[in-house]
Amino acid sequence: MEEYARLTIDGKEYKLPVITGTAGDRAIDIRKLRQESGFITFDPGFGNTGSCKSAITFMDGEKGILRYRGIPIEQLAEHSSFVETTFLLIRGRLPTRDELTATSVNLNDHSLLHENMKMFYQNFPSRAHPMGILSAMVNAMRSFHPGLVDSREDLQKTFLRLVSKVRTMAAMAYKVSIGQNPVYPNPNYSYCENFLHMMFDNPVVPYHIDKDIAEALNVFWILHADHEQNCSTTAVRVVGSGKVNIYAAISSGIAALWGPLHGGANQAVIHMLDEIHTTGLKIADVIKKAKDVNDPFKLMGFGHRVYKTYDPRAKIMKQICDKILKKTKTNDPLLWIAMELEKEALADPYFQDKNLYPNVDFYSGIVLRAMGIPTNMFTVMFAIGRLPGWIAHWQEDFSDPEMKISRPRQVFTGEPLLQYMPIDKR
Ligand code: CMC
Repeated sequence: MEEYARLTIDGKEYKLPVITGTAGDRAIDIRKLRQESGFITFDPGFGNTGSCKSAITFMDGEKGILRYRGIPIEQLAEHSSFVETTFLLIRGRLPTRDELTATSVNLNDHSLLHENMKMFYQNFPSRAHPMGILSAMVNAMRSFHPGLVDSREDLQKTFLRLVSKVRTMAAMAYKVSIGQNPVYPNPNYSYCENFLHMMFDNPVVPYHIDKDIAEALNVFWILHADHEQNCSTTAVRVVGSGKVNIYAAISSGIAALWGPLHGGANQAVIHMLDEIHTTGLKIADVIKKAKDVNDPFKLMGFGHRVYKTYDPRAKIMKQICDKILKKTKTNDPLLWIAMELEKEALADPYFQDKNLYPNVDFYSGIVLRAMGIPTNMFTVMFAIGRLPGWIAHWQEDFSDPEMKISRPRQVFTGEPLLQYMPIDKR
């Protein structure tokens, strides 16, 4: 039986269909609202707006639940690999053994970059941020791989090409930034091992892959692989809705992720902790500053649009953090500051009343530091992880017959009508 919400404006009633998702979440379908009533809705930041139907990721922010294609994040972090999770997100189900092997083979086959792409790196200023470089390089891929046809097989090839090459591009950006020659991928390594190899190997000090570090990276990337309609994924969907090629859409997602309120928070957390460490700021003063309405400072790595309880990814990240610091015998003073900050904030009525808890970025920077990843590469690490999610969302839109170009309306607040004034009369 169809269900309706009833909206009364100026005594006239409008029947708006109710849509119910598979997990019971409900939405009021307002697609005909303007046409029938002349009204639009107003929701800056889209906090109450469903922009699409999606079968990829389920989140319950009140209960702290995150599932990819129905599978809880905790199970994937414990049992899956990033490559398998990539398949799951993009193809909608777990792969068979043969499919998983074929995916790994394909990722290996696509891992080299066109040699001419290397030239681009040399022309960025040495202090260029790797997120800007990565976004530009992904956009440039369209010129090197123009043969994108919309048949299923070719699309899957494009997806794996992206997943494989983004990892190579990211490692290469780092190598160039430290004045070293890029290291080529090695077919004997897994996806995560290969990234570490390309980042840290060099001719004079060979890098030995540590299985525990590679496993921590594997979990790190699984935790970041998708997060439904977040800022960067929405960017990918909005840009993709104009039917632009996937490389341009993903490139816009990378740019959106860069911001400190989104993926850039992992870098911002470390800067914040570092500042507390070097200046000797008291934790109580940091908390006071974060609560001050007249101060723009926010506790980085805290709060989330959807989670109103502990971010389930942050719980797992904290466990990896403990493991990896023990393994690398790192005594990171920033960890102690983070733990104290978390304890104080969680006990403070301001953070309790506003349901502000640590998010995935709170401990991820400490994990990355322990792996030897430089701070300006942190958001790039997030981007590599988020890529399968962006691809899955782009694909979902691409194959949705109901999909429309994204084009919101506005409530106009400027001068409604002015007459042009000649310049000598102004
Ligand atoms: N420190 C202090 N106050 C905060 C914080 C924070 N980290 N986060 C939110 N608040 C306050 C905010 O000032 C507001 O107060 P009031 O009701 O008095 O105006 C209230 O809590 C609600 O916050 P909001 O900014 O309206 O919430 P939002 O959903 O628009 O923003 C957020 C979510 C993640 C952008 C925000 O919590 C924030 O800026 N956090 C710090 C940056 C961060 O850690 N970002 C990473 C997010 S997780 C990674 C990802 O998926 O992108």
